[in-house]
Amino acid sequence: MSKNTVSAPANIAFVKYWGATDIERALPLNSSISMTLDECVTLCTAELIDGAPHRDEIWLAEPDGRLAPAPPEFSHRVLAHIERLRKWAGREEGVRIATRNTFPAAAGLASSASGFAALTLAVTRTFGLSPSPGELSLLARRSGSGSACRSVFGGYVEWRAGEGAEEDNHALPLASADHWDLRDVIAVVEIGPKTVSSLDGHRRAPTSPYYDRRRELLGGRLDRVRSAIRHRDLAALGPVLEEEAIDLHLIAMSSQPSIFYWSPGTLEVLRTVRELRQEGLEAWATMDAGANVHVICDPDSEEGVAERLTGLASVGFVIRDGVGNGPEAESQALF
Ligand code: DP6
Repeated sequence: MSKNTVSAPANIAFVKYWGATDIERALPLNSSISMTLDECVTLCTAELIDGAPHRDEIWLAEPDGRLAPAPPEFSHRVLAHIERLRKWAGREEGVRIATRNTFPAAAGLASSASGFAALTLAVTRTFGLSPSPGELSLLARRSGSGSACRSVFGGYVEWRAGEGAEEDNHALPLASADHWDLRDVIAVVEIGPKTVSSLDGHRRAPTSPYYDRRRELLGGRLDRVRSAIRHRDLAALGPVLEEEAIDLHLIAMSSQPSIFYWSPGTLEVLRTVRELRQEGLEAWATMDAGANVHVICDPDSEEGVAERLTGLASVGFVIRDGVGNGPEAESQALF
């Protein structure tokens, strides 16, 4: 049986998807914009299993090449997505997949975006299909991990809300990776999975008394981010990045029941990023639904940012990443 192996990257949202009109199919209440990463990727190999209709196998590939059975809570969503893709492809065969992240699983970084983008790509190829980028993005979105629809593209990506039919809702590229070389120094202050899933976060978001105000402000914020990307203007992008990240967490903290993703380390990193700016480095912070902080900076500032963050008591380790080109076919299979 022929195997297909792909890699798909994680992404960091500059404007966050938070709240959905349809949570199962990830139809967002607001548009979002992200930067696709380069180093933090999920690898996925898929092959058909002969004579086993609708019976799939999910494996986790260890760095040393061994395969371990995936835990049920992980397999559950993966199996549901394979079934969805099988139906879309009009096929019956079972699929064997193995998957591995290049970044530490314990880092609590969003691996579902890269994971579902890689799964969508590997499985559709294994069914002999070549979906267009828009179709791939749409299928990745239907995994329920909405941000996966942005990981299908490299560079800077926008996912618009509320325009047209469900089958037209997918992300689109705004600018390629070589348009603007931005770096992302990720300060890992907390390991382990987050306590409240993004799905619960989306569900609770509209219960925040500040949610409507957030939505009023988002149009202007999206315009500022688009314009900053177009003009490669970090001094314009940075303040919106921090404003937006704080806003996301304000909504989470004021939802019912409230969600606190931050840890003391988050605040230590935020304070340090302000100090770094006072010292002349171009560095701005953002956080997704977790405690870890992504510090977006220009290439000249990356070394100084990484060095300083590594030295902080609350930072376990830093991951140095940057804008990347999007999914790729890989020659080395995971099994
Ligand atoms: C805060 O529903 O895509 O990262 O399935 O956990 O990846 P996961 O989450 P998803 O929500 C993403 C929420 C966010 C903001 C964003 O990436 O836009």
